[in-house]
Amino acid sequence: MKTAFYSTRKFERDFLLQAAGDQHELVLLEPALSLATAPLAAGCEAVCIFVNDDGSAPVLEKLAALGVKYLALRSAGFNHVDIQAAHALGMRIARVPEYSPYAVAEHTVALILALNRKLVRAHNRIRDLNFSLDGLTGFDLHGKTVGIIGMGKIGKLVGHIMRGFGCQIIAFDRYPDNEWAKANDATYVSIDELCSRSDIISLHAPLMPETEYIINKESIARMKKGVMLINTSRGRLINTLDVTEGLKSGQIGYLGLDVYEEERGLFFEDHSSDIVQDDVISRLITFANVLITSHQAFLTDTALKNIAATTMYNLDCFVKGEKGVNELT
Ligand code: NAI
Repeated sequence: MKTAFYSTRKFERDFLLQAAGDQHELVLLEPALSLATAPLAAGCEAVCIFVNDDGSAPVLEKLAALGVKYLALRSAGFNHVDIQAAHALGMRIARVPEYSPYAVAEHTVALILALNRKLVRAHNRIRDLNFSLDGLTGFDLHGKTVGIIGMGKIGKLVGHIMRGFGCQIIAFDRYPDNEWAKANDATYVSIDELCSRSDIISLHAPLMPETEYIINKESIARMKKGVMLINTSRGRLINTLDVTEGLKSGQIGYLGLDVYEEERGLFFEDHSSDIVQDDVISRLITFANVLITSHQAFLTDTALKNIAATTMYNLDCFVKGEKGVNELT
């Protein structure tokens, strides 16, 4: 079976080709899936996409008209795909529900450490032979309160690692896992209490109507002055304009982002020769206490290997006419 892989980059191609072996015919495409690029899937029965591809109804209709019957997501999140529209078109969808929660949790902690101890600033200074320490003061993580919104696989790992630093863990989740909390010295609280008590807030809930802009003007006003806010989940969990205001007033003391609500078309691409038209991210980049990575929290060799292997498993299920365990219903 021939599958069109959209948004493929150098960093993942070898993993995909190796996992495919000679069982699958892959068409590795660099462009993201959109209305304009959908025709590139002509002749393919399946399409494989990543987080910033457009899986909206009009695009799916175009794919279905080309004869595409299967959509394999190389991601856990599926907020970028209109599942109902796909099913109405008779298209089946599978995702990679878990590839390495460790990768994302560890990157989250890397952002916390780098922001707190101002590692990027220190490194840039040293390259300029400036060995002064002024402006580089951090804080002890030991004894601080870390609030985790969305205590699932990744949130729990972040809690576990931060517990190792001597932090107190509080969490907000729609479905509290009290057994885990008891075993790991964590406490579930309301979202308001989490905001008002945390020194560091880390977001690990999926993007859905209930979590969209869960961080906004009102929740920021409840936070401790100088709070550290980390988002490695999905950009639209935070209202970026409200967060920018929070940074300007000093209410937010540190911001670490791996995701951004307008990241599509921006992240994963080299825009170094372009005039960036997005004033919101341009402003964020000017703050010394903001650290942004380009949706790379998943990017470890273990995760890439697992994504490739599970994707091929999902495609195999389709070829064999089986309903695989990763299919979205
Ligand atoms: P998970 O499904 O194991 O955990 C999500 C948790 O959020 C669950 O405990 C769930 O009960 C909770 N939740 C759901 N709705 C909620 C609500 N309305 N309010 C509060 N909590 C709610 O997912 P996992 O694997 O931990 O991933 C979390 C998120 O991380 C994903 O949804 C995805 O957006 C993001 N992610 C980011 C990556 C990156 O590279 N930056 C890579 C992989 C995932």
